[in-house]
Amino acid sequence: MTNATTTTTTNPPWVNKPKLSSLRRMGCSWNHLSLSPQKPSSQELRLKINCSAQSVLHFPKQSSAPPTVPTSNSTAITTISCPKEEAKPKADSCFSGGGWNLLQRVAAAALDAVEGKLTEHELEHPLPRTADPRVQIAGNFAPVPEQPVCHALPVAGKIPECINGVYVRNGANPHFEPVAGHHFFDGDGMVHAVQFKNGAASYACRFTETQRLVQEKALGRPVFPKAIGELHGHSGIARLMLFYARGIFGLLDHSNGTGVANAGLVYFNNRLLAMSEDDIPYHVSVTPSGDLKTVERYDFDGQLKSTMIAHPKLDPVSGELFALSYDVIQKPYLKYFRFSKTGKKSPDVEIPVPDPTMMHDFAITERFFIVPDQQVVFKISEMIRGGSPVVYDKNKVSRFGVLNKYAKDASEMKWVEVPDCFCFHLWNAWEEPETDEIVVIGSCMTPPDSIFNECDEGLKSVLSEIRLNLKTGKSTRKPIIQNPSEEVNLEAGMVNRNKLGRKTRYAYLAIAEPWPKVSGFAKVDLFTGEVKKFIYGDEKYGGEPLFLPRNSDSDAEDDGYILAFVHDEKTWKSELQIVNSQTLHLEATVKLPSRVPYGFHGTFITATDLSTQAV
Ligand SMILES: [Fe+2]
Repeated sequence: MTNATTTTTTNPPWVNKPKLSSLRRMGCSWNHLSLSPQKPSSQELRLKINCSAQSVLHFPKQSSAPPTVPTSNSTAITTISCPKEEAKPKADSCFSGGGWNLLQRVAAAALDAVEGKLTEHELEHPLPRTADPRVQIAGNFAPVPEQPVCHALPVAGKIPECINGVYVRNGANPHFEPVAGHHFFDGDGMVHAVQFKNGAASYACRFTETQRLVQEKALGRPVFPKAIGELHGHSGIARLMLFYARGIFGLLDHSNGTGVANAGLVYFNNRLLAMSEDDIPYHVSVTPSGDLKTVERYDFDGQLKSTMIAHPKLDPVSGELFALSYDVIQKPYLKYFRFSKTGKKSPDVEIPVPDPTMMHDFAITERFFIVPDQQVVFKISEMIRGGSPVVYDKNKVSRFGVLNKYAKDASEMKWVEVPDCFCFHLWNAWEEPETDEIVVIGSCMTPPDSIFNECDEGLKSVLSEIRLNLKTGKSTRKPIIQNPSEEVNLEAGMVNRNKLGRKTRYAYLAIAEPWPKVSGFAKVDLFTGEVKKFIYGDEKYGGEPLFLPRNSDSDAEDDGYILAFVHDEKTWKSELQIVNSQTLHLEATVKLPSRVPYGFHGTFITATDLSTQAV
């Protein structure tokens, strides 16, 4: 991803502290990897992608207090505040330090000293922009405190009667002040929820209580490595070793995951699941009052033994959930599996790929699933050489794999090359039997690794139609928007999810401009290339537009509403905008009681679905 904008940024107060005074901006690179928790021994270090590396662009800038205070050199200074939550060590926690024996206390002191030296050394050198908290969590990328549920919010306009339920959106929200490197994607997961009941709206936001957050809160400081901001080069290796050493001495427990659960959300089998692809999901419940509560780290009743990507696909017809798991260290690098409507997991299907590859998203059709095996790969050896383990492999030819959704193994998988294609997200796919083609709709990014490594070349994200001919094994790729004057970076969005895997005419996507901010959304006619834009307003920015169908059996595919969190960078207020998706008329604006940072992906849970929620 790219990072926050360079100009007019505001920084969290902590970054102005003396200990970070030596930080300077600089162009460069790094990467994301996080440890797989399951292997405590140092020789079993398993780096896993923390791909919260989601949407690159769902985030622009600033906080709930006073906005920016410009300095003489035109760079803004922060007045934003990070959540001032007190770390409350739990006396009864085995990770609080209170129960440590003498050896543990000695080990903790020694490891703390090593970490202190390491941090001191790191801060002697400029941090890359992609790991500099002054860049990464400036402006409305900055974290907020939890907001207990607030009812009867002011509404301008009228909330459509058909909207009943709760809109939830995930995001990265670091609980603790960054010690050194920090990338926006590294933040702890926080879910923002707007509940609609009888024309009224409430709002709440809560951290997802991941295993890492629970332990760090008990200790009163961050101790888990930050997958993107810290794990690169030699210092990244050192931090991994510190992490595992603390595990060996029982100073922390990484056996139950290290993920931040900050990227995706899906409501499946009566559970809202918060996900990041470096861990298994977390079950978060919506309380009757509209608040949120973390239930548990959810392994589907013991069935899920590996990580799961944050973009599983829910088939609107069968109710099944399809997913991938990938590993950046050891084979199998890629696995596919599915869950029945009632949550029964299928056996894993191992998919042979030659290298561990970034695979943030995939697609389904009625009969197939499609995986993008592209040019952004993981080379841990690069870390040993001092660089980033996320690499753009120019010698690799991108390809898409197609396999029957119910295949028991990958022997019949068909690979179709799609040269120079890198789609971080795939918005939909469908079959066109008349031409033996699979049509895939995605946003093709250039440079391919610009999400992960800073580069001088401006990022482009082109909404594209990719055709995979299963008979000839050939592909074609073309921009959907043919008119050059209409060209725009499009990322983060969706089609009507009731049509997922089927031919869809419309996609609703974030207008990721000025990059990386999102100034509005585009409704794109995928058949004609026609674009209709809705702009959030003067100095108002948002993120992923959520398309909410009016109902599941409406004749018109675009009959529904777009919901989007929007932040006004002039007034420093946040709101939820509700836009008619046929007319692009703003129907209602819900004024929110506190700032909503730019974030990642969301979903909507209808009141009917909520009524059967598992708790
Ligand atoms: Fe994503």
